[in-house]
Amino acid sequence: MKRTLGYAVIAILFFALIWVWTLEVDSSLNYPEFISGGALFFTIFFLCLFNIRKRVPFLPLWPARKWFLLHTVAGFLALSLFWLHAGIMWPNGLYVQILVFLFYLTTLSGIVGLVMEKVYPNLLTRIGLECIYERIPRDIAEIRNKAETLVFECTEKTGSDTLAQHYLETLGWFFQRPRFFINNIFGGQNAQTWVMQQCSILERFLNASERDYLDKIFALAEIKRKIDFHYSLQTMLKNWLLIHIPLAAAVMTMVVWHIIVIQVFFN
Ligand code: HEM
Repeated sequence: MKRTLGYAVIAILFFALIWVWTLEVDSSLNYPEFISGGALFFTIFFLCLFNIRKRVPFLPLWPARKWFLLHTVAGFLALSLFWLHAGIMWPNGLYVQILVFLFYLTTLSGIVGLVMEKVYPNLLTRIGLECIYERIPRDIAEIRNKAETLVFECTEKTGSDTLAQHYLETLGWFFQRPRFFINNIFGGQNAQTWVMQQCSILERFLNASERDYLDKIFALAEIKRKIDFHYSLQTMLKNWLLIHIPLAAAVMTMVVWHIIVIQVFFN
C-alpha cells in the first residue's frame, strides 16, 4: 500500500510538472501539445514495455510486482495526460476518434482486469471449493451422471416419475453445462436462488422417500453451482488479457502513425 501511494505521488508530481510546462509553453505562443504529447507517448511506451518484461522474465528488470504497480499507476497517468493533451474528452476527426476510442477501451479493459485480479481470488476462496479450470468439463459430466443415476434409481425404487419429469423439464438444463455465467462474473446469487426455487417447488409434490433423493440432487446442484462460479471467474481471469493486449497494440500502432503525420505536417 505504501509503495502504491509512493508511485501515485510520483505520477501526480510528474503530471503537475508537465501541466505547468505546457502552461508556460502556451504563454510563449508555442505548441504545448508537443510537451503533453511527448509525455503521453513516453507513458504509453512504458505501459507497452510490460509485455516485453513478461516475455523475458529471466532478465534482472525489477520484480514482477513492481512492474504491476508501476503499470497500474502509469495507466491512470496516461489517461490524465491524454486529457491534458487533447483538451477535450472526445476530439474531432475520424482517425483521432478511432485512436481515442481504442485508448479508452484499453484503459477500461485495464481497470476491469485490475479489479478482477484483486477481487476474484477472494471470491473464489470464499466459495469454499477448489477447482482446476481444465478439469471443469469432466467434473460437471461426473456430477450430471450422478444426478441422472439418482433420478433413475428414484423412479425404479419408488415407482413414481414425478422427480424424473421435473428433472427433464428444469434441473436437467442446469446440470448440462456451466450456467449463469454473466450473473456469476458480477458475483450474483441467481444460480443459488434458482436451484432453491426449483427444489422447493418440487418438494411439495414428492413423498418422503422421493424427498431423500431430491436432497441428494440438491447437494449435487450446490457443488455444480460452485463449479460454475469457478468456471465463470476463472474464464474471465484467463481471458481478459486477450482483449487488453491487442487493444494496447492497436493504440501503440495508431500513436506511432499519429506522430509521423504530425511530423510531416510541421516540417
Ligand atoms: C488505467 C489503465 C490501465 C490499467 C489499470 C491496466 C492494468 C493492467 C493489468 C492489471 C495488466 C496485467 C498484469 C498481470 O496480470 O500480469 C496489464 C497488462 C498490460 N497492459 Fe495495461 N492497464 C492499463 C492501461 C494500459 C494501456 C493504456 C496500455 C497500452 C496502450 C496497456 C498495455 C498493457 C500491456 C502491453 C500489458 C502486458 C500484457 C501481457 O503481456 O501480459 N495498459 N494492464
